[in-house]
Amino acid sequence: MVGTMVRQLIEGASIKEIEDAGLSDYYADHDRAIFPVSAAGNPFTAAYIQSKGDPITDLHENMAAEQKARSTYEYLINMVDDPDVLDPLKFLREREVVHFQRFGEALRIVQDYLDSPKLYQIPKPDCMKQI
Ligand SMILES: [Fe+2]
Repeated sequence: MVGTMVRQLIEGASIKEIEDAGLSDYYADHDRAIFPVSAAGNPFTAAYIQSKGDPITDLHENMAAEQKARSTYEYLINMVDDPDVLDPLKFLREREVVHFQRFGEALRIVQDYLDSPKLYQIPKPDCMKQI
């Protein structure tokens, strides 16, 4: 959604408008194409995505990622006054809040499961089964 918004905002922009927006360096590298980078210009990489394989650790990582996305959308909202940009950003912010809540629910389910007593059923060997 953000990529589409950026594409729509920059589509048809003149070189002067691109320069005035401070996007000369971006234009030199990417024209008007969408190239996801951080605000500092670091390209998106999957190296930021963590996965340890432990459900408690991974759910906490996911919850932190949702909060980081929420706060990033809030910072973007603080800089925007165009309603065509503001409304989608507000929608995306709300979505991150819901994602955080769902991961929190999943974490609670996993913790409840891990805290519950376990009953292990051992299958009977063939010689003990009644005919
Ligand atoms: Fe999310």
